[in-house]
Amino acid sequence: MTRTRITGTGSAVPENIRTNFDLEKMVDTTDEWITTRTGIRERRIAAEGEYTSTFATRAAERALEMAGVAAEEIDLIIVATITADFPFPATACLVQSNLGAKKAAAFDIAAACSGFVYGLSIADNAIRGGTARKALVIGAEVLSRIIDWTDRNTCLLFGDGAGAVVVEACEGERGILSTHLHSDGSYWELLYQPGCGSRNPAVQQTLDERKIFLVMQGNEVFKLAVRAMEDAALQALETNRLTPSDISIFIPHQANRRIIDAIGKRLGLGADKVYVNLDRYGNTSAASIPLALDEANRGGRINEGDIVLFDAFGGGLTWGSALVRW
Ligand SMILES: CC(C)(COP(=O)(O)OP(=O)(O)OC[C@H]1O[C@@H](n2cnc3c(N)ncnc32)[C@H](O)[C@@H]1OP(=O)(O)O)[C@@H](O)C(=O)NCCC(=O)NCCS
Repeated sequence: MTRTRITGTGSAVPENIRTNFDLEKMVDTTDEWITTRTGIRERRIAAEGEYTSTFATRAAERALEMAGVAAEEIDLIIVATITADFPFPATACLVQSNLGAKKAAAFDIAAACSGFVYGLSIADNAIRGGTARKALVIGAEVLSRIIDWTDRNTCLLFGDGAGAVVVEACEGERGILSTHLHSDGSYWELLYQPGCGSRNPAVQQTLDERKIFLVMQGNEVFKLAVRAMEDAALQALETNRLTPSDISIFIPHQANRRIIDAIGKRLGLGADKVYVNLDRYGNTSAASIPLALDEANRGGRINEGDIVLFDAFGGGLTWGSALVRW
């Protein structure tokens, strides 16, 4: 049976670190408040001259190196992002050019923080359907450029970075076992960027009204995230006739420590099974799961045959899960 297997992981983050203590000097907040309410201690911020494609390309290069796959062998490049280099062309096309992945089809998807799981699902279907044999799925963001650094409700949560996987058609039992994707557009106003699209184009008025920045209703998002992520995790397990005790490692979207803890508790997972790195990176949206995956993988936390569960939630609203036998 042909399955889609993750054969390489990679990640890349900016060098520049912005700590909670730095934020204390920018908005009315404290390290104690941010740590207690979110679990975040610091985040990475892109420097001038660094773009979403910069980190996407570096993460992809590292994933290709681990997989032992040449860029020229890649059939498909999917970049999940809400902070593309340009409205068009797709950041995936820039990555294709940077890598020299000449035969790859390349496009972006905008599913906010669920983008990586969405991209993985699309790549899995392309590979099992036979239209691609080797693909790159990348989650990459430079959110710092759409954050209002005077808004204490949002500026402490987000960070920049990228994660990537190489996926390949393989025979056998190892690989992606299932993906489940969901959305509910009736909640679109809970988390969005008002400006720079066709409703509020990038003109002076949009800038003056500060509509270029991300806005969020944090409390509502929090409650919906816990419920949706629990449902998506259980759906993945039920589909594969597994129980939470079968999970070797749970890699959830890294938005808020309290959201992750609540889901871990509902699933009955011990802290040793739940991978968390948001203390160092904050919420990197589409990059968060592949960034955490790469750290866990290179840190020796994932072994052959392990059951790995990805669980995502984001603006849209969008959410979903992917279950993998490593
Ligand atoms: C944003 C978030 C951290 C706020 O935490 P919260 O516990 O809901 O906090 P509240 O907004 O209810 O605010 C509680 C109090 O802290 C204050 N406060 C808010 N932001 C603060 C800050 N940065 N520093 C200090 N105090 C702050 C509020 O004014 C409020 O004070 P009050 O009780 O005197 O009115 C939380 O709602 C969250 O993480 N939501 C999910 C966001 C998310 O993950 N989005 C991405 C999804 S992919």
